[in-house]
Amino acid sequence: MTIKITPDELKVIAKYIEDISGIFLDESKVYLIETRLGDLVEELGCASYSELHYKAKSDASGSIKKKIIDAITTRETFFFRDTPPFELLQHKILPDLIDKRTCKSSTSLPVTIRIWSAACSTGQEVYSIAIVLKKLLPDFAKFNIRLLGTDISDAIIAQASYGQYNRFEIERGLSKDMLQEYFIPDGNNWKIKDEIRAMATFKKQNLLEPFTEPGKFDIVFCRNVAIYFSPENRVKLFNKIADILEPDGYLVIGSSEFLTGVCPRFEPKKYLKSIYYQLKGTPKPGF
Ligand SMILES: C[S@@+](CC[C@H](N)C(=O)[O-])C[C@H]1O[C@@H](n2cnc3c(N)ncnc32)[C@H](O)[C@@H]1O
Repeated sequence: MTIKITPDELKVIAKYIEDISGIFLDESKVYLIETRLGDLVEELGCASYSELHYKAKSDASGSIKKKIIDAITTRETFFFRDTPPFELLQHKILPDLIDKRTCKSSTSLPVTIRIWSAACSTGQEVYSIAIVLKKLLPDFAKFNIRLLGTDISDAIIAQASYGQYNRFEIERGLSKDMLQEYFIPDGNNWKIKDEIRAMATFKKQNLLEPFTEPGKFDIVFCRNVAIYFSPENRVKLFNKIADILEPDGYLVIGSSEFLTGVCPRFEPKKYLKSIYYQLKGTPKPGF
């Protein structure tokens, strides 16, 4: 039998979830909380949501907190989600950046480009970016391209890093040709080829906490995560991203998201069907 959450418990558990993950849940999300946390309440032998909250707070190992994060997060993702951002990457962002970085470089050192997929879920976004890089730059090894994928969930990061997908996941966004070229069969599943896997690194990063990766990024994909945050946490997140973006860097957000009124340091720009963001005052290519 599903244990029901009381209005008082809802306030307490929603505040706890927001504190640990940024995910904002109001009274309208009772059903979501009960569906996603109900099994955990039972698994841990709790008689109520108050007891779950108490156990999570007093668990020094942090394992209940992790389980709550794993249960409450929405992981929906797929390869080449919303297509235009990947066309934007291939036809505008990467060519512009490579041009600029090549002109700027006075040494024979390879051109460096740092890309971050923040909140990458099970890795489809990261490998879609890697496939675009591989298609655009057959001489990939000549460049110093760093591709980082992060997420709040250890379990999800482990899955992303392993790079194995079932038929359902593979059929979402990948053409037959891409499947043949970049994946190998692995039992009933498919695994990303080593050469693509090797292009990326994965690590845990809670976007609410200070960013642990040193240095600046040229391209940040931060898609379909801030929609779950409160307006205050959205402001904090995009300001932090503005801090770690190169002055001529690019930010790509989800197709239903916008930054107007969230972070005035960014201005929207349009390329074909895509909107991307750059810091205000970004010099135009060629200048
Ligand atoms: C809906 S998925 C989006 C995945 C991918 N960016 C895309 O657009 O297809 C949201 C991801 O955000 C992650 N997430 C939620 N809160 C987070 C936080 N505070 N820090 C980092 N990742 C978070 C979840 O674990 C989940 O994998």
